[in-house]
Amino acid sequence: MSKSIYINQKIKSFRKKIFVSGDKSLSIRFALMASQAIGKSRIYNLLNSEDVLSALHCLKKVGVKSKNKKNYCEIYGNGLNGFSFKNKTVINCQNSGTLARLICGLLAKSTKSVILKGDKSLSKRDFSRIIKPLNLFGIKIKSKNNKLPLKIMGTNYLRPIKWYEMLKSAQVKTSILLASLNTPGVTEIHALKSRDHSERLFKFLKIPISIKKKKEFDLIKIKGQHQYKSFVAKVPGDISSASFFILLALLSKDSEIIIKNVNVNKTRTGIIDILKKMNAKIKIKNHKMLNGEEIADINVKHSEKLKAIKPSPLINSRAIDELPLIFLACSKAQGVSYFRDLGELRNKEQDRLKFSAKFLKMIGIKIVETKNSLKIYGNPKLYLEGKYVVKNFMKDHRAFMMSVVAALSLGGKWKIYDPDSIKTSFPSFLNKIRKLGAKLHQ
Ligand code: S3P
Repeated sequence: MSKSIYINQKIKSFRKKIFVSGDKSLSIRFALMASQAIGKSRIYNLLNSEDVLSALHCLKKVGVKSKNKKNYCEIYGNGLNGFSFKNKTVINCQNSGTLARLICGLLAKSTKSVILKGDKSLSKRDFSRIIKPLNLFGIKIKSKNNKLPLKIMGTNYLRPIKWYEMLKSAQVKTSILLASLNTPGVTEIHALKSRDHSERLFKFLKIPISIKKKKEFDLIKIKGQHQYKSFVAKVPGDISSASFFILLALLSKDSEIIIKNVNVNKTRTGIIDILKKMNAKIKIKNHKMLNGEEIADINVKHSEKLKAIKPSPLINSRAIDELPLIFLACSKAQGVSYFRDLGELRNKEQDRLKFSAKFLKMIGIKIVETKNSLKIYGNPKLYLEGKYVVKNFMKDHRAFMMSVVAALSLGGKWKIYDPDSIKTSFPSFLNKIRKLGAKLHQ
């Protein structure tokens, strides 16, 4: 693909039914959990993107084979602590923070060392958040300033821990859950609310886990060293990928979209709750269960009268990857929106708070950015005619896709760099956008 794309006209009104690709969080979790099962697991609709391929590649480096078939992926698990590899094996997680944080937990009992690396963006991200709890299990992790590369050395003498997870991070919670798989006794996590795919997956695989849900946190207990069998599962559509289409339909005159079979797990649907409160015409239909996860069809209609919002920060973790898109919706809303406690946005593939603030300013929206908050002065009449260039965003896939949605729904002449970034999470994004009738030039 070329190094940039051009968009010179808004998308014409559309009415379509689409599917989005498999959920990234679930695809990585299914692959990692299959690696610890006994025997061959089969996963349908596994997301075929760079982050998930990196997971399969890292697993191969530690002795777990997989085969990509036409409709599914087969993963040959060797059981708990069944990794086999040479000392100082290098694994490269490329751009995936989720993979990097999660696989460290799985290496808990490996007594040969692993060097964990990543790309430029991942190498800037903080790993103290997992190093601290994993150290308590007895796992040794060497790093420079808690950044990649990490040298990880597991132990045969794992001890269960009690941890207070205060970052609202599902990655941290899951890293601990995965380390607990190989640890004797009961590991306890008091976790502020974050996505709960891993807990659901543990239940689906009948791994002993108990969860007490309190208002602001969950008390999770896992009994380790329970060997589980291989499994068959299907990955539902990714709500984070669906969100770009939700926004596009919402902001495009006379348009409507139905996105089929999307994972609507409550810990991920913050964007829907927020947009609905802003007056967006969104309906969720055809609820079903799939491998312990709720799926449904999302119906979105163009919504003209959006109003500003000041959501409680408690919702942030349920919309963490969609917040920049929500900010974009706020730029077309009547009134002043205000978001607080946004610090975690600065720790993503790039500083997404900084990116969002810069982006909104570029399209003429008044904002006030602080260390961890954003005020957005909406303009319902927002209509763009100027020239806009989006570049230097650390190949952040979500920044690229958000820019495409803004260009197609708000007008103006756009040059957007790094289309290859979509390979990380949603390689078919531009094809799907074209199928809705959008004109993109390379
Ligand atoms: C993810 C959790 C979130 C999210 C990331 C995927 C996961 O990160 O931003 O894209 O799959 O667990 P944190 O848990 O660090 O907030």
